[in-house]
Amino acid sequence: MNLSTTYLGLKLRTPLIIGASPFCENIEAASQLEEAGASAIVMRSLFEEQIDLEQQALFRHLETPAESNPEATSYFPHYDEYQLTPETYVSKLERLKGALSIPVIASLNGRNPGGWVDYAHRLEAAGADAIELNTYQLATDPNTSGDFIETDIIEIVRSVIASVKIPVSVKLSPFHTALAQFATTLDERGAAGLVLFNRFYQPDFDIETMSVIPTLRLSTSAELLLRLRWLSVLSPSLKGSLACSGGVHTAEDLIKALLAGANAVQVVSLPLEEGPSSLTELLDGLGIWMKEHDYSSVDQMRGALNLKHCPDPAAHERANYIKILQNWKV
Ligand SMILES: Cc1cc2nc3c(=O)[nH]c(=O)nc-3n(C[C@H](O)[C@H](O)[C@H](O)COP(=O)(O)O)c2cc1C
Repeated sequence: MNLSTTYLGLKLRTPLIIGASPFCENIEAASQLEEAGASAIVMRSLFEEQIDLEQQALFRHLETPAESNPEATSYFPHYDEYQLTPETYVSKLERLKGALSIPVIASLNGRNPGGWVDYAHRLEAAGADAIELNTYQLATDPNTSGDFIETDIIEIVRSVIASVKIPVSVKLSPFHTALAQFATTLDERGAAGLVLFNRFYQPDFDIETMSVIPTLRLSTSAELLLRLRWLSVLSPSLKGSLACSGGVHTAEDLIKALLAGANAVQVVSLPLEEGPSSLTELLDGLGIWMKEHDYSSVDQMRGALNLKHCPDPAAHERANYIKILQNWKV
């Protein structure tokens, strides 16, 4: 059974990748995941805010950079609170590269065009096999248009691509007005791949203390459906690779993501909850299913249920929505 795949031009022995997460900080855990079948690992993000703080500190010769910026002091973590400073990020990347034989993908996370994107070059020099660019942002300002936000993202992507030779992927939000058009633009501008999707941290309310509580819940398989839809819609037309990120917990989920058109599938919640052996279980399940359904390679099954290949394309689109609603009876 051939489980190999190509993602961002990288030849991977299985379609399972460890998504951006704290796993990159524990070399032993990362090695166990590699042994269990992970074919690449994405490091946790290095944030625009961190890089800006470091650059300000160098410029002003300040010892405690976060205090130099009142906004940073009030809203963002203090410089020391980030898990990896830009310097330690680079040395961690070098250590991961030394310890693992699978590709290591660095993650840059920011939302404004600016000098921070030059850091991609340092990550490439430190041995990163690719850059995953995350432009995580919440568009809460009623005066900022979708076009303005997307123009900024396109500019960030352009400048990162221009500063490195390694492939650059973009981790997208599902909340774009015309996602198909935006994804196509990024693909045409040279993004080697798209990661669907960012999972937004959503604060909860404490109705006794009347406070808003930061909450990070791990995913469930229910989150996969949004990814399946957009992988199915985008995979027939994009030149670059697609990674599914969010909601893959079982072999069945992994198979669905591949059938929808993913080149690779990122997992974080699953190995956080169940450890490295969960990856082997997923890959074993994939192998068994492929055998039962006469597929000899992952390449052969990819996209078999996407918008182009599935027997009923309307199932991915509005027509099916209307049908589903009309079928409910009470
Ligand atoms: C503890 C934790 C830390 C994460 N850190 C990052 C990060 O630094 N950058 C990023 O792009 N995504 C980060 N993510 C999001 C994951 O990469 C992934 O997109 C998300 O968890 C959905 O995948 P899952 O359903 O397999 O968990 C993090 C997720 C978790 C749970």
